[in-house]
Parts: sequence; structure tokens; C-alpha cells
Amino acid sequence: MSKLWGGRFQKSAEEWVDEFGASIHFDQELVFEDLQGSIAHVTMLGKTGILTEEEMHQILGGLEALQQKASKGELTFSVAQEDIHLNLEKYLIEEIGAVGGKLHTGRSRNDQVATDMHLYLKKQVKLIIGLIEQFQTALVEKAEQHVETLAPGYTHLQRAQPISFGHHLMAYFWMLQRDKERFQEGLKRIDVSPLGAGALAGTTFPIDRELSADLLGFSGVYANSMDAVSDRDFILEFLSGSSILMMHLSRLAEEMILWSSQEFQFIEMDDAFSTGSSIMPQKKNPDMAELIRGKTGRVYGNLFSLLTVLKGLPLAYNKDMQEDKEGMFDTVHTIIGSLKIFTGMVQTMKVNEGRLEEAVHNDFSNATELADYLASKGIPFREAHEIVGKLVLHCIQHQCYLADLSLEELKSASESIEEDIYRVLSPYEAVKRRKSLGGTGFDQVQLQIETAKRLINDE
Ligand code: ARG
Repeated sequence: MSKLWGGRFQKSAEEWVDEFGASIHFDQELVFEDLQGSIAHVTMLGKTGILTEEEMHQILGGLEALQQKASKGELTFSVAQEDIHLNLEKYLIEEIGAVGGKLHTGRSRNDQVATDMHLYLKKQVKLIIGLIEQFQTALVEKAEQHVETLAPGYTHLQRAQPISFGHHLMAYFWMLQRDKERFQEGLKRIDVSPLGAGALAGTTFPIDRELSADLLGFSGVYANSMDAVSDRDFILEFLSGSSILMMHLSRLAEEMILWSSQEFQFIEMDDAFSTGSSIMPQKKNPDMAELIRGKTGRVYGNLFSLLTVLKGLPLAYNKDMQEDKEGMFDTVHTIIGSLKIFTGMVQTMKVNEGRLEEAVHNDFSNATELADYLASKGIPFREAHEIVGKLVLHCIQHQCYLADLSLEELKSASESIEEDIYRVLSPYEAVKRRKSLGGTGFDQVQLQIETAKRLINDE
């Protein structure tokens, strides 16, 4: 089949070479953005008098017909036309005749593809921001049900201090909030039009870049045509924001996997997000959480792959840059899927309050309470730490917990200990009294939740 750029060539490439160079297998995902970009471009060509009104209308008619066909799935693309841009241009010429060949006046595939990518990412990032908000809402709702549910808090995965389970969930809300802000911030640099940069140097046609940018809903235009066609920072920023988001999701995934294990039994994941084993009938596996943890790897990979592709590339466009697409599409699909799954997983998870309560009572995570108690009676904290450490050792040797010791036993460790110690040792009190700003005290958690709700509603 003849190539749209075939004039200068005396022989055509073999099919398998075309196959290797083509991007149509994946860049057909840009079909609507490409048509949208062309509509803006040709409108601008008409308004500036570069094309006649009639030519503009003819081409617009053809592009709209292609939009219709594309939405009905009636367009099939061919490797011989290499990419989405050439495939659509070929279709346009078939649709309306030779005048279709005027569409590409004052434009290159280099600014065209960059425009498509900006349009695509702008749309997807907005969608992703909405999905992050839905996930945040699920976290806040679950947290609100568990402000007063006690849970062991860990450091080094060793029981550390009791916390509110809602507080633990809210920690993820704030991670997600930063993720959302990163995407919102990145949108500013996505929202810029490269259209009209031409191949690299601009064009001799009296185009109006601001007009086409306006028609496409972009807030501004690139100031330098070479930068416009070479820049992929906006994709890198998206991929790095996505990598951080996935890192957060994979941490929560890991926690949910642990919590739902026989060893913890803190939560039960809904059947809808679990799978069984083909051999072990008793199994209920947290596959979706594991998969999200695993998919984090491919998103990091996409970031590194594009950083590496771009490293050392001379200006301006190089075919290497065609490699920017698959990783971007893959990341978009992966984070959209992961956010949707996670929202459902958090909404439907059952929190095993009894088991959490039991865990919090049967450990030494109230040891800090006792040390703080002694310190508040004027004993230097280091000494208090030592006294409590010895008491813990005593308990371990006698297979009991601090609250099981009699007042007499406690007093033999320190005279300053009084009857009120039993209240202090209660995990509920320990959590409640952590009223410092951002602490796990119930009032503080409730405050966080109110702030979080306001943040969601304001946006
Ligand atoms: N398929 C190409 C890409 O994705 C489009 C731009 C091609 N430009 C060129 N001069 N070969 O990057």
C-alpha cells in the first residue's frame, strides 16, 4: 500500500520492517484525541484564511464522519499506515477526496502526536483525581466507623502502642491527598499546547497557535517549538506521581494481606475480592491486594523505562520517543483499575473488632503508659524506662501482663505507683489520652475526619 510520505522513496520497506516500526497496535488508543486535534487545527486553518471556508467545512465534515465511525468501532487500522495519525489521514482522504490532504498544512506528526498525548493525559488525570477522591471517601467512611476501635500500633512490625483503627486508616487518606495534589499540580504542565510547533521549527504559514490551543481547551502554548515537540516531562511527572501512588497502595495492600491472615485475623476481605485455591478447599486468598502490590512493580518499570528512553536524546523529535506510549497507557489502565478495586475492597472489608480488642489487651503496648505515669510523678524518664523494662521482664517470666500485677508487686518496683495505675494501663485510656495534635486520641481522629471531609467536599 502506498505511503503518505512515499514520494522520496524508490522502494518500499518489507512488511516485517513496517511491522517493527509501526505504533498503530497501541497508539490507536489516541483515536479520539487525534481527531479532536485535527478538528481544532483545521478550524484554525480556516479562520486564519490558510484554507478556504469551504475546504475547512469539507475537512471538518470528513473528520466528524470519522469520529462517528470510530465510536461505532467501524475503523480498522493498518500497519502499512504505521500510526494513528497516518491511518486517520488516509481514511480522511478516502472519505472526502484529495482536499483531505490539506489537513496537514502547517503541521507535523511531531506536534500532532505531542498534542494527542497532552489531550489524552489531561482527560485521564482528571478521571484519576476523581477516583482518588472516591477511594478517600471510602477510607474516611470506614475510619469514621472505627474511631473507637482499638488496634495494636506497630513499629518494626512489633506491637508498639495501642491506636485507634480509624487513625490507622486515616494515615492512608493523607497519603492519597498528597498523591491527588501531585496530579493536580502536574495538570498545569499537561495543560499546554504543542500544536503549531511543526516538525521542530514552527511554520511559514500564518497560523494562530493560541486559537487552536483555545479550541482544544488548553490554558497556554509552549513558548519554544523545539521544546514543544521534545518535551515528555509531563508524562514523566505523571509516571512518577503514579509510582508514588502505587507505592502507597501497595503498603495498604500488604497490611490488608497481613491483617486478613490466620495469624492476625484483624479483618476479613469480602468474597468479591478474594479467590479460592484449586487444591486447598479451605483457602481464601487476598489475590486482588497481592496483584496491586505486584502491579506496583510494572508502574515503577514504566517510569524507569521512559527516563531511560529520554536520557541523552538530542533535540528535537527522535523515533525513540514513540516508546513513550505503551508505558503511559499501561500506567493509566493500571492505576485506574487499582483505585477502583481498592475502593471496593475497603468499603466491603469486615473489621474484626473482637480480635483487635483481644490483641490490644494481650500485650505490652501499654508499657509506655506506665513509664509516662512514673515520669509525670517526677521520676526522670530514663529511670522510669528502666523500671518498666524490668517489670515487663518479670511479667514475661511469670507469663502475665502489666495489668495483671497486684498493686503490691507494682509498688515494689516503684513506690510512686498508686491505685490509679490500672486506669492508666487500660488501652482505651491510653489511646484516649493521646490528645496531641494529629495524635491517635479519639477527639483528634474525629477532628482529622472532619478536616478530611471538608477537603473532599471543597474540591
Ligand atoms: N508514531 C510516532 C510516535 O509515536 C508519531 C510521530 C512520528 N514522527 C516522525 N517524524 N516519524 O512518536
